[in-house]
Amino acid sequence: MAKLAFASFLLWALTVAAGAFFYINGVTRTGLDGRKVILLSESERDQVQADMRKLLQTVAEITAALGRPDAPAVARLASNVGAQAASLENPALLAKLPLDFKQAGMNMHAGFDQLAAAARGGASPTRLTGMLGEQLAGCAACHEVYRFGN
Ligand code: HEC
Repeated sequence: MAKLAFASFLLWALTVAAGAFFYINGVTRTGLDGRKVILLSESERDQVQADMRKLLQTVAEITAALGRPDAPAVARLASNVGAQAASLENPALLAKLPLDFKQAGMNMHAGFDQLAAAARGGASPTRLTGMLGEQLAGCAACHEVYRFGN
């Protein structure tokens, strides 16, 4: 009986440890270019890459809105890619993403919410452009470290 209890404890502990391992590390290998390759299925990769293209499209539209300047459009566009837009609905995909990656993604979405709030709050186009620049630095920093693969 004690053996069985110990075996089930061990199984539980291993499951928790494996869960924690994937939560922190995701599923990755190191690529030839030194970046971490996050291993995704083809459809998961399609999904995240489509999200990425939407981000690029949005920063293009925000930049154009800043050039007019049109603060209400900046606010609307930025909140479209804010925290509410974070794609958290796929647990299998989330498990494959390293914790650092998830945090960088959440910071980026929060940064767009801050940009939207600043645009609504009457911040100058110069200030808003500076904030957008910080957002783009966040995009570049993540691309520097990670890539997708399968
Ligand atoms: C948390 C990490 C992370 C952040 C933040 C991030 N990206 Fe990405 N993005 C990636 C990864 C990883 C790839 C795949 C790169 C590769 O495989 O070489 C990618 C790919 C892309 C692609 C190519 C999509 C395709 O169809 O191939 C675009 C465009 C892109 N990102 C735009 C952006 C923009 C714009 C931002 C900021 C507003 C951003 N990304 C922020 C991780 C991130």
